[in-house]
Amino acid sequence: MLPKKTPVPEAPFVPKKGKTPMLVRGMKDILPVDWPWWNLVFDKVISVAREFGFERIETPVVEENAMFVRSVGKDSDIVEKEMFAFTDRGGDAVALRPEGTAGVVRAYLEHGMMAMPQPIKLFYISPMFRYDRPQSGRYRQFWQFGFEILGDGHPVVDAEVIAIGATIYQELGIPVRVQVNSVGDAASRTAYLKVLLEYFKPRRTRLCEECKKRLIKNPMRILDCKEPDCQLLAQDAPPFLDHLSEPAKEHFVKVLEHLDDMDVPYDLNPRIVRGLDYYTHTAFEYTVADDIGVEKQQSALGGGGRYDGLVELFGGRPTPAIGFAGGIERTIMQLKARGIQPPAPLRPDVFIAQLGDAARKKSIKLFRELRSLGIRAAATFSKTSIKAQLESANRLRAPFTLILGQKELVDGTILIRDMESGIQEVVDFGKAVGEVKKRVQKTNGEKQLVNGDVVADIQE
Ligand code: HAM
Repeated sequence: MLPKKTPVPEAPFVPKKGKTPMLVRGMKDILPVDWPWWNLVFDKVISVAREFGFERIETPVVEENAMFVRSVGKDSDIVEKEMFAFTDRGGDAVALRPEGTAGVVRAYLEHGMMAMPQPIKLFYISPMFRYDRPQSGRYRQFWQFGFEILGDGHPVVDAEVIAIGATIYQELGIPVRVQVNSVGDAASRTAYLKVLLEYFKPRRTRLCEECKKRLIKNPMRILDCKEPDCQLLAQDAPPFLDHLSEPAKEHFVKVLEHLDDMDVPYDLNPRIVRGLDYYTHTAFEYTVADDIGVEKQQSALGGGGRYDGLVELFGGRPTPAIGFAGGIERTIMQLKARGIQPPAPLRPDVFIAQLGDAARKKSIKLFRELRSLGIRAAATFSKTSIKAQLESANRLRAPFTLILGQKELVDGTILIRDMESGIQEVVDFGKAVGEVKKRVQKTNGEKQLVNGDVVADIQE
């Protein structure tokens, strides 16, 4: 460990000549071909967030390491094994965020949000980092969409938050069930830990090595161990629900009632204990409701719960809070496995093709004029052959192309080519903009008849 504020010596970096750099293990590029799916998820999250009155927040990727140790828990898998933690050049112990909740709570306190009318409803779409063993559906950099409500402890809010996630998956076309549990308040937890210890201690030898350690550090985590022997034991473990304090029981019963009122399908699942320490009361996960052959570990699409003690733990006054986060890569895997297609990208309204330097100059002006009028013009000015430019126009699915060749330049005209029929008309150059506007309006008008929406997506 470097003492605080000791500058870190500069690491020698000598790139090997001719060696192609490669992706770091567990990292992934999001390529242009992937973006239609990413946009589909982003758009859905943003629209649902708006409908439910959430405002967007983005906190930094780098935060104090201690913040995660305190909130996520020093004995949690995330902190023990998965943190991208390092000492920066100024000697500060920092980490790449493994999750979004801690940063949101820090921002809530740091920006005085507790003094604003409560609750504060925030959402984010952000990359997270966990040094986990990479496999399908598990990466070292992955994206989450998250929703957090701070400053409201009413059980209806738990149900509302759970319903928001369910709405997102349902509207994306992924059938989910919510697995719900209560991990109680501090009093229930102390009582339950005793009961768990009494149950597991005599069965210690049947636990995996990891769970033997958990028995001392955090026995609740044995309940969600993936080892078959531990799972068998966990099945018969006394459920938390039987050991909730009266107020915790009352809270949970109300949450379930509200879920029923909201028609959110759920299963009571005593094994949902979550891998982060800050949870209190309601804990939940979204799992895929059917089996379409995507591996099991990817069926946990998202999860969350109440964290009523976290604001106080960070030095604020006691403030109830609840939230959840969904994994975007896993969501997209589900969309693809179900053959759900994102909308095709918007096509341009018009393409502009040109031949020769003088025509190119004039076309660039025309292009800028059309864009300034809100018309989506496209062009490939670097191409010199009309054939190649028409190919681009076709690839982009432009409905028509303006062609400015040498002859048109001399005549003061321009050609308008209908890309479907191939029919070309000559118009005065001065009338080109008006003609384009007319055609774009006509196309949009026709779409309105079909879709009832002028700016509806254009499907191929
Ligand atoms: P979490 O359950 O640790 O919760 O993560 C939420 C979701 O992120 C998981 O269900 C999964 O879909 C995705 N995820 C987690 N790790 C990976 C990975 N290595 N690769 C790909 N996807 C992954 C939290 O992070 C809490 N902060 C949720 C929350 C918000 N609780 C209250 N508010």
